[in-house]
Amino acid sequence: MNAPVKMIPTTVIDLLKIDHFKAKECFDYFAALGDLDFKIKEKVMKQMALDLMTHLVAEENVLYPLIAKHLPHGPALVSESIVEHDRARHLIQKLGGMSPFDPLYDCTFKKLAELMCYHIEEEENYIFPLLEHVDLDFEELAIELQKVKKMVV
Ligand SMILES: [Fe+2]
Ligand SMILES: [Fe+2]
Repeated sequence: MNAPVKMIPTTVIDLLKIDHFKAKECFDYFAALGDLDFKIKEKVMKQMALDLMTHLVAEENVLYPLIAKHLPHGPALVSESIVEHDRARHLIQKLGGMSPFDPLYDCTFKKLAELMCYHIEEEENYIFPLLEHVDLDFEELAIELQKVKKMVV
């Protein structure tokens, strides 16, 4: 008989970091594509758009209110983050309306990748470590995050 598998508890921060990792992987994959890989670029962009939009909504609903409430300068951090999310949404929507044959397509994708990489660094290196010191049920928040994600998709 096999030994029971021990479930490792997942926190909301773990889940968000997985999303970030996948987004960065997607940006790198896109950057490595050739100039003529139009079909693949469009496919990668569509999947990335869906994943990223879901991530932004889930983060804003589950995590950002806690950042605003518990962190010093929390409201300012959230305002800055929401402006970055809005910029990302604008670029995602712009890409959604563009043809991959458009000469500005790759450059628009690159701008989105740069913006998101900067935003992710800020969250992972500054905001999340501060939040982890707050007494919150991060495992329960992981469940809440997944619920919000299911409602968005
Ligand atoms: Fe964010
Ligand atoms: Fe994030």
